[in-house]
Amino acid sequence: MIEELLHQENLQKEEIIRLLSTTGEEMKQLFARSLEVKLQYLDNKVHLRGLIEYGNRCSKSCLYCGVRGGNHKVHRYTLTDEEVLDCARQAMDLHYGSIALQSGERSDKAFTDKITELVREIKRISNGQLGITLSLGEQSEEVYRQWFEAGAHRYLLRIEASNEELYYKIHPRDEHHDFHKRLHCIETLLKIGYQTGTGVMIGLPFQTVEDLADDLLFFRRMDVAMVGMGPYIPHQDTPLYQYASQIPSADERLNMTLKMIAVLRLMMPEINMVAATADQTLDPLGREKAIMAGANVIMPNLTPTQYREDYLIYPDKACVSDAPDQCQSCLDIRMHAIQHEILYDAWGDSVAFTKGR
Ligand code: 5AD
Ligand code: FES
Repeated sequence: MIEELLHQENLQKEEIIRLLSTTGEEMKQLFARSLEVKLQYLDNKVHLRGLIEYGNRCSKSCLYCGVRGGNHKVHRYTLTDEEVLDCARQAMDLHYGSIALQSGERSDKAFTDKITELVREIKRISNGQLGITLSLGEQSEEVYRQWFEAGAHRYLLRIEASNEELYYKIHPRDEHHDFHKRLHCIETLLKIGYQTGTGVMIGLPFQTVEDLADDLLFFRRMDVAMVGMGPYIPHQDTPLYQYASQIPSADERLNMTLKMIAVLRLMMPEINMVAATADQTLDPLGREKAIMAGANVIMPNLTPTQYREDYLIYPDKACVSDAPDQCQSCLDIRMHAIQHEILYDAWGDSVAFTKGR
């Protein structure tokens, strides 16, 4: 019987594992309860972040990622300033209240100064209206501060796996991939005052249900405002692909992702949680299912279509050829079909964060 657990506020590890292990009717019961909790705290509103994939040059070589520095098949690109600003204008035209700027990791000064300039410029052309989320990897405290002062107010840095041992199974063990540095970056972002998001991939080789329960406890302990979790999707041109036959099936990975979202919604009712595009890669209705399990944010892609094929961090990414305006009407229809409503012209800050101020 899981009824009692579904109404418990301070779930402990064994209880989390029990909920993550549900199947059939019990799993449905879990989703029904997490939807109820979400509607109670956050209503049926869905927030949008227009995603701009700024560039795919990357100094890291994460073993799962299609655009890892070590993959020489990838054509490398960086958007021009004008292309980025056009994306921002498009976000405004489509009434998206926020954008998210993401790219491969680079920490050279030319890059970090360019981002500062772009953040300022986006703020300027939108009269401060567009909210800006950055997802640009590990940086020094000074750089994080510089970008914050320029006007970025949210930052996403997934820990990818909160178990250090697992982290080193999916990253090379070298100076570019340091678990403690990554952890420290998340702490720095929180200290500076960013609305900070983190997250993990689900269904990784070597990952256990204990690891996943620890991931959820990690999010709660860090008291983050946002979480983005999605299924791991093996990419053929990466070292981790050799274990592809050992991971759970696509259905199992998606179901586990939905259960992770649902349990976290019970644990942290007011945070923002993304319905990841990777959900849709595994199931055409994957994002809708994530919203019904407790997610409340979607990141429609604004990247100019000619670059999208070069940003395939995993294969078969959804919506690679959809123009942004098509994407908008498609999302409206999809959200209405599940009795949800997109909130336009709003930053959509995390309620958890706003209350903590
Ligand atoms: N499958 C699923 N997600 C992936 N990411 C990177 N590679 C993959 C993959 N093969 C995720 C990471 C990263 C985010 C931008 O994309 O979690 O933080
Ligand atoms: Fe670029 Fe992981 S490969 S950050």
